[in-house]
Amino acid sequence: MTPSKATNITWHDGTVSPEERHKTMGQKGGTLWLTGLSASGKSTIAVALEQVLLQRGKHAYRLDGDNIRHGLNNNLGFSAEDRAENIRRIGEVAKLFTEAGIVTIASFISPYTADRDNARRMHADAGLAFLEVFVDCPLEEAERRDPKGLYKKARAGEIKGFTGIDDPYEAPANAELHLHTDQLSVAESVEAMLELLEKKDLLSA
Ligand code: ADX
Repeated sequence: MTPSKATNITWHDGTVSPEERHKTMGQKGGTLWLTGLSASGKSTIAVALEQVLLQRGKHAYRLDGDNIRHGLNNNLGFSAEDRAENIRRIGEVAKLFTEAGIVTIASFISPYTADRDNARRMHADAGLAFLEVFVDCPLEEAERRDPKGLYKKARAGEIKGFTGIDDPYEAPANAELHLHTDQLSVAESVEAMLELLEKKDLLSA
């Protein structure tokens, strides 16, 4: 973690214990970190999972790459430095949501292993659950889907540094869950994520 730029700042502890918070929330919560190529299905399965969790009376909230880039991160582009800063901020935001006891579903390409590991470390240091989900879809299939027409533009040279075309994607080696979204239905992916959350006992206090 880079040290704070500010000086003369002091951490102020609260009095609410994690157990007290979990009891009130009725769950522990945790971060599900969805990583994968553009059009791999991250946002689709994140939306579906959030809906199912809410229907079951669980507290869940989505942090989505495209959405966050409309607000909090609207001063960032797609250079390696900006992507790192994008993921650093979202790692911190996800950590805060998870600390509040929410099931936090972060869906970002997050192409660099080091940036994802940094987000994982932030959570581990705070004793919070971080589960990496590799939303794995072959580039050919993502390009065939191309819902936003971005692969077409990238192939035509109208977008430079597009992930999978002329910018790298480092696949996770140790994700807690590996979903082949070209072979699974949305419901099957959601079920697998729910099973993982239950197995890790994050949906109860
Ligand atoms: S990340 O690499 O920094 O994690 P993020 O998930 O926030 O990316 O945003 C990715 C989204 O931005 C894509 O789904 C796509 O809609 C859009 N986008 C625009 N330009 C690019 C680019 N050069 N590479 C990847 N995605 C891009």
